Amino acid sequence: MRKPIIAGNWKMNKTVKEAVELINELKPLVAKSKPEVVVCVPYTDLWAVKEAIAGSKIKLGAENVAWADNGAFTGEISADMLLEIGVEYVIIGHSERRQYFGETDQSVNARAKQALKKGLKPIICVGETLTEREKNKTKKVLKKQVVEGFKDFTAEDFANIVIAYEPVWAIGTGKTATAEDANKTIGYIRSLVKKIWGSEVAKALRIQYGGSMKPTNAKELMAMRNIDGGLIGGAALKATDFAGIVNYKNN
Ligand code: PGA
Repeated sequence: MRKPIIAGNWKMNKTVKEAVELINELKPLVAKSKPEVVVCVPYTDLWAVKEAIAGSKIKLGAENVAWADNGAFTGEISADMLLEIGVEYVIIGHSERRQYFGETDQSVNARAKQALKKGLKPIICVGETLTEREKNKTKKVLKKQVVEGFKDFTAEDFANIVIAYEPVWAIGTGKTATAEDANKTIGYIRSLVKKIWGSEVAKALRIQYGGSMKPTNAKELMAMRNIDGGLIGGAALKATDFAGIVNYKNN
């Protein structure tokens, strides 16, 4: 059985003060939650959020990590810096990084390998754009992202990897893939992993859906066989909404 994992992706939102307020509001609401709960927050919030989540089940995540150990990489943050604060998860290859900051499958691969080497758990994002979808290229795009983005990963690496399938056209748009559609596409990603790394790896691998997930659609999405969690953007910025997704079983 794969344990569901609901992760918030705060993106470039919340000052330290706002972050602590949000966590304090969130803590009691998710105290009895069944899924694993993670908040991936801006670097500047990490330390304060780490202190604010103490004693709760909420786990700490970052939104990116450098591929190098240290050195002349202005603006980057290393795995050691994250680990010392107590970060456990890190989002890698989010479509906004690919779209606005030039991330490629190769940089995603390098960052993910570094995360794995250092003992951080990467949440690796894949997904097609609207144009790619309309041109029937979804499978081709996902295959490339998996083959090149996950290059040289070992079967053992997958014990610490989460994949987030996020159709780019569904991110922040209010448009959600239908549960059946998301399930089918995630099934395809699982089959790719099975082909390359074997059925045990594919069976155990957790794959999230991301893209306008809300308390109102979480239950339906989470009921799907292949969907093991969610990567939540907008709805993660409001405690009641995020908790409503975490506690999807009660909806
Ligand atoms: P959204 O974002 O929930 O606001 O669509 C999801 C994401 O980008 O991770």
